Amino acid sequence: MTEQVPFTDIYVDDEIVDRAADVLESTQYVKGDRLEKFEAEFAEACDVEHAVGLHSGTAAILCGLQAAGIGEGDQVFVPGHTFFATVSPVLSVDAEPVFVDVDPDTYTMDPVDLERKVERAENPQGIVPVHIYGQIADMEAIQAVADDYDLAVVEDACQAHFAERDGHIAGTVGDVGAFSFYPSKNMTVGGDGGMLITDDDQIARRARTLRNHGRTEDGTHEVLGLNYRLDEFKAAVGRRQLEFVREWNEARNAAAQKYDRRLSSIPEITTPTEAADSFHVYHLYVIQVPDRDVLREHLDENGIDTGVHYETPAHRHPAVRDRTESTELERTERLCDRILSLPMHPRITDEEIDRVCNEIEEYYR
Ligand SMILES: Cc1ncc(COP(=O)(O)O)c(C=O)c1O
Repeated sequence: MTEQVPFTDIYVDDEIVDRAADVLESTQYVKGDRLEKFEAEFAEACDVEHAVGLHSGTAAILCGLQAAGIGEGDQVFVPGHTFFATVSPVLSVDAEPVFVDVDPDTYTMDPVDLERKVERAENPQGIVPVHIYGQIADMEAIQAVADDYDLAVVEDACQAHFAERDGHIAGTVGDVGAFSFYPSKNMTVGGDGGMLITDDDQIARRARTLRNHGRTEDGTHEVLGLNYRLDEFKAAVGRRQLEFVREWNEARNAAAQKYDRRLSSIPEITTPTEAADSFHVYHLYVIQVPDRDVLREHLDENGIDTGVHYETPAHRHPAVRDRTESTELERTERLCDRILSLPMHPRITDEEIDRVCNEIEEYYR
């Protein structure tokens, strides 16, 4: 029997296991120096002043919005094509998400649609651009709109650790960058985890307060915060993964080039487009096809795991329907019907890529 081609793969080595065991033996499970070191190393790798460890990417977006002053009644611009966790923090701070369509080539927030909607908005206060699939949105254009209208920018870089565009690393153009370390992401902490990065001292201080029950160093509960801390196990695993993530990103990018070479000659398929002057870190390798569900079934029957990210546009989910103006996002909706994510991880072999491509060719023959 031929082996399954897995969708993703998670790296564990003896060093990671030893480091986790060290934490267990130390009995210092929270608020220790492993987290401080992880934060310092992550900040240095992104070339920013502050990194704040949090228990998820969702918490990083939420604390980012709150620390940047977003609250009740504020309008926050989000792309329609994203995981719902981009939107739920906006709803959680009682702000109103305003949905923006995507760029047809990169599937990231379209700055033209953004500007049109910001111009018409009554209380525009923030933008959450998403670096979907590992490619950075057009931050120069988006930041220009933010500067013109004095809007806070929280970059959802949950899928784009160390991606680059126009000379900037993901998460470093806006006021805040938010990362997820969920197990399937380009780097993980061995469970849920997140990181907020910023150059702004006040935002960093607020985020540290928010993650720890709203408590300041002198023990006063200054604001309403909850517990969003990242524990020492996660920090220990994250530090080890941080040593490899850029090498893994190169491997993902190289795998994507191989897929491109094999698939771009099939007329039914649209392969991913990389923006000029960018480094795409391919959290996901996503093609567009006219008959997605049937192709997906064919691949499944032949031992190839695939995914759909995401089937339903964010603005169509019941949780947001009565919290936003009804909106049509033509490109987003069309995209959601056509996208298919193929197996992608740093250790995918040439043979596995060939198997996936052979099956796709076979299907279209
Ligand atoms: C685009 C995007 N935003 C936000 C999140 C939320 O991250 P987490 O699952 O760590 O809360 C994720 C990942 O799941 C994501 O892919």
